[in-house]
Amino acid sequence: MRVLVTAGPTREALDPVRYLTNRSSGKMGYAMADAFARAGHAVLLVSGPTQLDIPEGVDFLPIETAEEMFDAVKRYIGKMDAAVFAAAVADYRPAVVSDQKIKKTGETLTLELVRTPDILGSVRGDFGFTGTLVGFAAETQNLQQNAREKLRKKGCDLVIANDVSKPGIGFDSDRNEVLLVFPEHVEALPEDEKHHLAPRLVREIERLAAERAS
Ligand code: CTP
Ligand code: CA
Repeated sequence: MRVLVTAGPTREALDPVRYLTNRSSGKMGYAMADAFARAGHAVLLVSGPTQLDIPEGVDFLPIETAEEMFDAVKRYIGKMDAAVFAAAVADYRPAVVSDQKIKKTGETLTLELVRTPDILGSVRGDFGFTGTLVGFAAETQNLQQNAREKLRKKGCDLVIANDVSKPGIGFDSDRNEVLLVFPEHVEALPEDEKHHLAPRLVREIERLAAERAS
């Protein structure tokens, strides 16, 4: 298969020296890209800034902002058989990017933020993607219900949900505990290293792709 994987955080500039981002390390997405490549698939990894080594045998497209990730996905999704959206995309960016460093003035500072495009949410409708589509859901409450909602709204075949409020798993960790939310059923996987979980998830996605093709 040709597989697109998004990974890592995005970085939204505020001024020449500051940006908004999040705690995503990119580890889950990179582990997925690596597992797909090891299973013999052709992988395009579209990634925000991380500290990680690029997995061997993967095509790598670095981006910074949500807008750049959107443009990259829009450009390449048509060539793909499957796509996995593991990136922690900023939902909002500063409304204006100051071209000079913002100086401190008053006692408080209010930032105006505007919505970024929902990349995964654009794939089925706007980009007309008909391949196998997998999203992640980062939640701190109502895990299953929220993941189910994302599965339906974004037209996914699978949403991999994790509770990012649990200590030691999820964001910025080597371990994860995920709930696989399919349209017709749900399966909980035990907590494990992201590198052990990834090949298991790849097999699941291969199965979904085979079902879609039949
Ligand atoms: N996602 C995306 N583009 C965005 C926001 C999210 O592609 N602008 C993708 C993520 O990569 C993930 C899925 O959508 O696969 C769900 O992301 P999440 O942040 O959990 O959900 P949101 O739809 O952004 O909703 P909220 O943050 O309000 O829960
Ligand atoms: Ca979000």
